[in-house]
Amino acid sequence: MDQSSAVLYTLLLCIPFSLSIFLLLRATSRRHRRLPPGNLGLPFIGETLQLISAYKTENPEPFIDDRVSKYGTVFTTHLFGEPTVFSADPDTNRFILQNEGRLFESSYPGSISNLLGRHSLLLMRGNLHKRMHSLTMSFANSAIIRDHLLVDVDRLVRLNMDAWTGRVILMEEAKKITFQLTVKQLMSFDPCEWTENLMKEYMLVIEGFFCIPLPIFSTTYRRAIQARRKVAEALSLVVVERRRGSERKKDMLAALMDEEGGGGGFSDEEIVDFMLALLVAGYETTSTIMTLAVKFLTETPRALAQLKEEHNGIRARKGETEALQWEDYKSMPFTQCVVNETLRVTNIISGVFRRAMTDVKIKDGYTIPKGWKVFASLRAVHMNHDYFKDARTFNPWRLQSSSETSSSMNMFTPFGGGPRRCPGAELARVELSVFLHRLVTQFSWEPAEQDKLVFFPTTRTQKRYPIIVQRL
Ligand code: HEM
Repeated sequence: MDQSSAVLYTLLLCIPFSLSIFLLLRATSRRHRRLPPGNLGLPFIGETLQLISAYKTENPEPFIDDRVSKYGTVFTTHLFGEPTVFSADPDTNRFILQNEGRLFESSYPGSISNLLGRHSLLLMRGNLHKRMHSLTMSFANSAIIRDHLLVDVDRLVRLNMDAWTGRVILMEEAKKITFQLTVKQLMSFDPCEWTENLMKEYMLVIEGFFCIPLPIFSTTYRRAIQARRKVAEALSLVVVERRRGSERKKDMLAALMDEEGGGGGFSDEEIVDFMLALLVAGYETTSTIMTLAVKFLTETPRALAQLKEEHNGIRARKGETEALQWEDYKSMPFTQCVVNETLRVTNIISGVFRRAMTDVKIKDGYTIPKGWKVFASLRAVHMNHDYFKDARTFNPWRLQSSSETSSSMNMFTPFGGGPRRCPGAELARVELSVFLHRLVTQFSWEPAEQDKLVFFPTTRTQKRYPIIVQRL
């Protein structure tokens, strides 16, 4: 045998040997790749129907409680067409949120992406996401709110409340307020016929997020896609006009177009998608929390009395009509307790979906396989008696007691965490505080009829919380 034949012969012998070693190792590593325990339910539907029927009631907790008691705080399930690792564990949630872009990436179904637009912040990844997230932050941070936005928040809340008499559907009113505020923050428009029409179309878009997203079956979804086109067209015109004009405004749109403000270089389509997604992110969330805070206060008269005392104190210092200042907002400690507790109990964003970018080892030696969906449940932690005493009761005083404050605040993540933490968190708090201030200092109210909380397709009250108001 010559030398080259010997090499070839050795190689031929080695390849099958190496291949079997490789397959053996892979099989061994598969065996070591332990999935969290759980149940994948029925083919395709998985456990989606159980989740939906639990969340359609006033008490969705059993869905999570049952599985946590059977399998532990991290379990496997199958939701909305995909196998999913569900985390009800605060450390695992933190790990998932902090590792955004490295081990996990945000993941929304195609139907949602179509409505959001592919250039929305919620769908961006990598460096572009970092840049746009910080640009959004720079337009909703404390200094901007203090120097620019607070005055509009106060003015628009008052403007809307001035028209209230008799029966008011609180959720509708709150939505109007948050929509107008977002439009003002984005492009400096005050409420007018144009904003009214935009809101009508926009509400159709929102409905599309909460329906069965199959264009063939769902007229709601088809209508939402059409309405999205109209909203995008209307916003495009604003962008075109702004590019033509010479006036320099101090709003989000200006920042998106301005190199110095961190923006610049974006196409009209990118700017429109970005603005549309911001409208989506800030509108439904804040208006629901406004409504539910009022519901909880109505049902907890001692909390309402303490809140009134705090705000009447501020009014007594300022006179009846004077606008709120940043110092006033900063002197509302009990209001912050009410806001936090409402966020905790209602969990308007009950958790966040991610997708594993690689096999990811998590606690207890479990592995989330590459490509799997992950749901980090913020709700499960907020509702856990181990972290919040008597967790399922609205108790705004809990965060005042020092024993509960520091440990619980670590577990309290209504705005998410990591690189995708909500950039509108402070703005939402300010909107909620000003809304409560004007409400309790100008009105008394009572529920117009019985209404109850449900959690699917979103957290809301069934009848949008109608109340009868009386001006003080
Ligand atoms: C009570 C009100 C609000 C709550 C509870 C809330 C909650 C959240 C949560 C949990 C996330 C993280 C989503 C994830 O990690 O995938 C988020 C993201 C976001 N929020 Fe909010 N939010 C509120 C109000 C607002 C407001 C007023 C704005 C307007 C500026 C806003 C803009 C956004 C944006 C743009 C994102 C996406 C961030 C990113 O993906 O980088 N939110 N919000």
